[in-house]
Amino acid sequence: MPKITLLPHPEICPEGSVVEADPSKSVCENLLDNNIFVEHACEMSCACTTCHVVVTEGFETLEASSDDEEDMLDKAWGLEQRSRLSCQLRNLSNDITIEFPRYTVNMVSEIHPRKESSAVNEPKSLHQDDFFVSGSAIKHLSKMIESNSGSCGIRISLKDSGCSGFAYDLNYVTDSDPSDYHGNFSGVNVYIKDTSLIFLRGTELDFIQDGLNQNLVFKNPNVENECGCGESFTFSNKPYAELK
Ligand code: FES
Repeated sequence: MPKITLLPHPEICPEGSVVEADPSKSVCENLLDNNIFVEHACEMSCACTTCHVVVTEGFETLEASSDDEEDMLDKAWGLEQRSRLSCQLRNLSNDITIEFPRYTVNMVSEIHPRKESSAVNEPKSLHQDDFFVSGSAIKHLSKMIESNSGSCGIRISLKDSGCSGFAYDLNYVTDSDPSDYHGNFSGVNVYIKDTSLIFLRGTELDFIQDGLNQNLVFKNPNVENECGCGESFTFSNKPYAELK
């Protein structure tokens, strides 16, 4: 079986390592199988760049990258000529050597925290277990932010609404509020109002396209009832109990 040699990285593998690769699996899967915790924020769907590696030896033996991989790589931190997304690298036929970039664009990783310390006036970090953004939602939010000049992210909060209780409120962010929670999802800045987080904990934000219909969808485990028109909702007792 071909071997993957890993050059030392201070957090991922400080001593470096060598793993035997199962060619039927991606390089990212092979590393995870060997307890090398390379980031994979989009669950290996080619929708982020957190699994970025630089192939320092054996690059020319690899299968060519797809257009989707090339497009994502353009957004990677520390892009080099021999950069690849490890989740897209399969069918290894030869030994390769890879190096991990010092950082990824994912600042919410629990494994490799990018920030050394948080300044007093910076928003608090949003943990991935508290709020998750799917690959398709990341793409959609990224387009929204790009089309709104001057904005650096999206802020999510709750507002009173309709016949049933609450609704989600999304706004563009130009200046971050230090009391917010902040997560960087593959380059997309998401801010959550501090008092709303307890009601959003465990939520996945997804983007669903069905024919001509397309929507951002909140899959929020704390929601108990939705009104008939789908405009507003109420919460279970759980978040209220946490507030006490
Ligand atoms: S894990 Fe997201 S592109 Fe590889």
